[in-house]
Amino acid sequence: MERVREDFPILSKVMRQGASLKYLDSGATSQKPIQVLDAERRFYTESNAAVHRGSHLLAEQASEAFESARQIIASFIGAEVDETIFTKSATEALNAIAYSFGNPGSGRLCLKPGDKVVVSEMEHHANLIPWQQLCKRTGATLAWFPITKDGRLDLSNLDEIVDASTKVVAITHQSNVLGTINPLEAIVERAHAVGAVVVLDACQSVPHMSVDVKQLGVDFLAFSGHKALGPTGIGILWGRAELLDLMEPYLFGGSMIESVTMENATWASAPRKFEAGVPNMAQAVGLAAAVNYMSDLGMDSIHKHELALTEHALNALNEISGLTIIGPNSMESRGGTISFTIEGIHPHDVGQVLDQDGIAVRTGHHCAWPLMRRFGVSGTTRASFYLYNTIAEIDALAEGIKNAQKFFKVN
Ligand code: ALA
Repeated sequence: MERVREDFPILSKVMRQGASLKYLDSGATSQKPIQVLDAERRFYTESNAAVHRGSHLLAEQASEAFESARQIIASFIGAEVDETIFTKSATEALNAIAYSFGNPGSGRLCLKPGDKVVVSEMEHHANLIPWQQLCKRTGATLAWFPITKDGRLDLSNLDEIVDASTKVVAITHQSNVLGTINPLEAIVERAHAVGAVVVLDACQSVPHMSVDVKQLGVDFLAFSGHKALGPTGIGILWGRAELLDLMEPYLFGGSMIESVTMENATWASAPRKFEAGVPNMAQAVGLAAAVNYMSDLGMDSIHKHELALTEHALNALNEISGLTIIGPNSMESRGGTISFTIEGIHPHDVGQVLDQDGIAVRTGHHCAWPLMRRFGVSGTTRASFYLYNTIAEIDALAEGIKNAQKFFKVN
């Protein structure tokens, strides 16, 4: 653990009042190891040029670095290289799919009145609003799985919700608020039985556990680089080749074409079709370094470490009276994200008191308003763990919460 933490220079930052940093906000964005920072810097200092364009040595080396990054990332998620598309973020990736499904050029993938899109009540806004907008544009209907009081998907009406009119099921793998890991098998089986495609928001799973697109059996997957030790400005859209072939691109311009006349243009095949313009090259290379870093540690070891932290945290938090866990309060099918409320203290106030001790958590609605409404809260405090966190940091969180209760005289 000490060796791992040394790779993350920011973890030794001195916070307010000389406190050490306890970074428990990796669900929002992860910190970056020196290996990722070095890879980006190396790209700029040794091979910076616009990829897929120039005929000079730098252009060749930049293209090699960029395409090698694609291979590393594709293999990390069990994907084919040409099915792995660089976007600027997971949000862009999800919007790209939703855009395409509203474009008549996408043929049988284009939605029409009477079609249905199914999401869940625990979606991040990035996997909800694009589908709301798609339904508004096409006349399709939006339906959703409700959530149980334990923060699990209620699949008791799976067959009615995912019916013959369903064309898309868009679901999160692991909730960014509750930590719930969703049971994909039943959903994928039902969706495919009615001819729907499954879009997986894997932002909170790919950085934390082994994810293989073929094993999961989904049709599309999106994740962001910055939550996975990588740089900001880079995300991944993965889709099955036969579906990507049908889809209309959402950005037009250089590098995504097959031929162009003054009147018309045709598209290159995926992934180029979806990568118009000079891409975020150094960020792609940085994400590949992040993936290599995680692979060296081993995704199973990372997951195991986070589960140990989570179990310790659940035990510690459950001992605090007035604290309510919002989401699964057991270790069954959950990851290292824990949301909670403290009776009598607003989450933002909890966050501010914790900050005095150098403890960084996220507070508020976590870009999941419908989920907040489901639990009847305006927001929560959320601690999210990653491979560099320690048991001591969890203990500091529990102590910090007790200090907040003393400060606000609620316990
Ligand atoms: N989606 C990120 C989070 O859950 C920003 O905090």
